[in-house]
Amino acid sequence: MNRFLLLLAGLFSATVAMSTFAADHAAAPPKADPAKGQQIAATVCAACHNADGNSTISANPKLAGQHAEYLLKQMENFKAEGGKPPLRTNAVMNAMIGAYSVEQMRDIAAYFSEQTQKGEMAKNRDTIEYGQRLYRAGDQTKGLPACASCHGPTGAGIPVLFPRIGGQFSEYIEAQLRNFRAGDRANDPNKMMRMVAIKMTDAEIKAVSDYVAGLR
Ligand code: HEC
Ligand code: HEC
Repeated sequence: MNRFLLLLAGLFSATVAMSTFAADHAAAPPKADPAKGQQIAATVCAACHNADGNSTISANPKLAGQHAEYLLKQMENFKAEGGKPPLRTNAVMNAMIGAYSVEQMRDIAAYFSEQTQKGEMAKNRDTIEYGQRLYRAGDQTKGLPACASCHGPTGAGIPVLFPRIGGQFSEYIEAQLRNFRAGDRANDPNKMMRMVAIKMTDAEIKAVSDYVAGLR
């Protein structure tokens, strides 16, 4: 073989090697397996979120019916990677999630997203209308946007970015709004929730949280 043919042969095998590599990596990520997610949910997460994601204690948010993309993002945000502090801090969840790979988180997210949420009820008759007004229209006088513009008219959220909040525990919603307002929760893309919460008074947070719990 002369040098030209050798070069060609070399190029050919390199091309073959590269295209096999490309084929391997072009393959879509493995599909989430909700059955595997269910096993982890039943044995670990159930202690606080119930096996079907309908938690009974208001400090533990309902995961049932939440969008898979949002659930996955929160799990990733709770997990400390590469020696950096986690993007979302909560002592319980930061400890809980450390053991799981992204694939397992994807399975868990798929499982909980397929469950049906059992919604809460609004409890405070005196503030329901006020809460509803804030939810639907915000408050133009101080530039508070309507929650509905991002979380949808029924609180079902809009995948992939905006979580379902309708039917969630009012105590949990209130706690998250306070966390966003104080900057203790800072994992919201483009500060979207911090910009909202910083404009809210305690009374507004309470009223809207109670209203959202009963929203479907
Ligand atoms: C010991 C109780 C406990 C266990 C067990 C637990 N969690 Fe949680 N989880 C919590 C609490 C408390 C919060 C609320 C954190 C906060 O206030 O920021 C939470 C929040 C979450 C959230 C965020 C939900 C949202 O609406 O933003 C996700 C997702 C989640 N947990 C997934 C899991 C998964 C998956 C498991 C099982 C591997 C699990 N949790 C096990 C207590 C628990
Ligand atoms: C500009 C869009 C936007 C508006 C307006 C908005 N939100 Fe959000 N909200 C978001 C996004 C995005 C997230 C998800 C943050 C993340 O990825 O962690 C979120 C998250 C939340 C959460 C946390 C949910 C959970 O399960 O932990 C609550 C509670 C919430 N919003 C309530 C409200 C309320 C109440 C209003 C109205 C007063 C409102 N939001 C207005 C974009 C918005």
